[in-house]
Amino acid sequence: MKKENKRLLLDLAVMVCCAVLCLVLLTGIFPKGPVAMAAEPANEKSASGVRIAKVEETGSGITLLTAKDWESTYPEIYASYMKNSENDSAEDYVENYPMISTLFEGYGFAKFYGGARGHTYVIDDVTSTGRPHAMANCFTCKTPDFTVMANELGDAAYSLAFEDVQQQVNEPLSCYNCHGNTGSTLMVTHQYLANALGSDLDKVDAATLTCGQCHVDYYFAPETKSTTLPYTSLESMSPDAILDYYNNLMVDGQVFADYVHASSGVRQIMVNHPELETFTGKGSVHFGTFTCADCHMGTVTKEDGTTYPNHFLRSPLDNPELLENTCSACHEDLAAKVHEIQEKAEERTYDIGYQLEDLINKITAAVESGEYSDEELDAIRMSYRNAQFYWNFVFVENSEGAHNSKLTHDCLDKSEALIAETLAMFH
Ligand code: HEC
Ligand code: HEC
Ligand code: HEC
Ligand code: HEC
Repeated sequence: MKKENKRLLLDLAVMVCCAVLCLVLLTGIFPKGPVAMAAEPANEKSASGVRIAKVEETGSGITLLTAKDWESTYPEIYASYMKNSENDSAEDYVENYPMISTLFEGYGFAKFYGGARGHTYVIDDVTSTGRPHAMANCFTCKTPDFTVMANELGDAAYSLAFEDVQQQVNEPLSCYNCHGNTGSTLMVTHQYLANALGSDLDKVDAATLTCGQCHVDYYFAPETKSTTLPYTSLESMSPDAILDYYNNLMVDGQVFADYVHASSGVRQIMVNHPELETFTGKGSVHFGTFTCADCHMGTVTKEDGTTYPNHFLRSPLDNPELLENTCSACHEDLAAKVHEIQEKAEERTYDIGYQLEDLINKITAAVESGEYSDEELDAIRMSYRNAQFYWNFVFVENSEGAHNSKLTHDCLDKSEALIAETLAMFH
């Protein structure tokens, strides 16, 4: 063989080897080519037909796959996920609910409290809230970069400095949060939810749990600052049990508080978006028939008749295909029904919010008057704390009554009853 030919063969061999190696590497790192939408979902089903969520492993040393990494495998899903950016307006709660600057006095939310908007905005929104952030735990529900960090470092991740972690997060909430690196299996990647529900995790469909990882009430555990949920089972996710949980949580000899109301001294609980608790709670019409995804995602049917799950998360009322194909079987005019529920709930939320404002001002006046003993004041404060808790539970729930109108009004009833009880405690 001529020397040049030998060189050529050698070059060719090297090239082939490289190509094979690349292929092996690529198929190893990236998922297998476009997967036909299987009729059988990857998640196992329980005897009662609930899809069981897989829980992400911890300390496995994984590298995050971003949404962009999945684009070529699932182009339509990726495109529908990117549509979340269309959902770009957020409500200014402080302007729309004038009472909250009084109720949340001494707490960051009193100054800036923006409503929810699309998932793709979460990093922007958390870094620009106008509320001070001390620790990385604020990233818990914003970015899979942090979810991976928490799965690697455990509780230690939550107390890292906000600014340090901010340098390392880029990807807004995406595929990893709900699918891990599998790209399709429904997963719980936020350990605190699995910890809180224990064996009850298998009783809730995975397509509800993925959302419930963030659409839940939480607090930062006093010692580790790690994101923690105030319950230990499905049963103890009720508002009454959650209140009990907080009222029995002692920190340095005092009952737990997210903040202390500056002028009245009330040790307050701040409830955060309890969508999972409300939707799975007593009185829920559709828990058991529908998952969060059934109402907020739905399915897109392509021209060739095949389907894929819509990843543009929005109100069912803004999803004509869903209303037509699923809801209209039972609801003639769902929009009218939802608006009626919401109007009633909102009207009471305003009314009771103003009652709470009057009441907390009355407590402040009582403190300043010097006419009340410490025991009397503490009893009044505790009673007020409970009243605001039930109101807060409704105020921060994002469906304004639509997820469970029964539970919503139960909470508002309890808040009103507690306001009356508190009022009766003044001289
Ligand atoms: C990793 C955390 C996380 C997960 C998981 C998550 N969400 Fe959210 N979601 C958020 C945050 C944070 C916001 C508020 C975004 C903002 O305003 O910046 C939000 C906002 C929303 C909104 C409101 C958008 C708007 O325009 O008002 C809807 C609807 C929603 N989520 C539905 C869902 C559903 C359905 C699921 C499950 C399929 C889900 N979310 C899973 C964190 C999460
Ligand atoms: C907020 C949570 C969430 C995010 C983020 C998310 N998904 Fe999903 N995904 C779901 C849920 C829930 C379902 C199941 C819908 C159903 O069956 O009701 C699903 C279904 C799927 C399926 C179909 C699985 C099957 O077996 O039918 C694929 C594939 C998929 N997602 C890919 C992706 C990709 C790729 C991304 C990122 C671009 C992504 N998902 C982001 C929640 C999410
Ligand atoms: C039976 C259908 C249904 C189910 C199931 C459901 N929701 Fe909703 N959700 C609604 C309706 C209706 C609204 C009110 C929409 C509106 O005001 O336009 C809503 C509102 C919301 C909002 C506020 C959206 C916005 O645009 O302001 C969020 C966030 C949300 N739901 C999350 C969830 C989560 C998380 C779950 C599961 C724990 C869930 N939903 C289960 C029907 C449902
Ligand atoms: C098999 C029948 C059926 C289907 C299908 C159905 N619903 Fe319902 N829905 C009901 C019944 C029954 C009620 C309770 C009675 C009432 O309030 O009308 C209800 C109540 C509701 C409520 C009010 C819940 C409350 O707590 O007051 C909402 C919101 C709702 N449905 C949304 C939806 C959405 C969104 C869809 C489509 C994804 C849907 N429903 C599909 C039967 C159905």
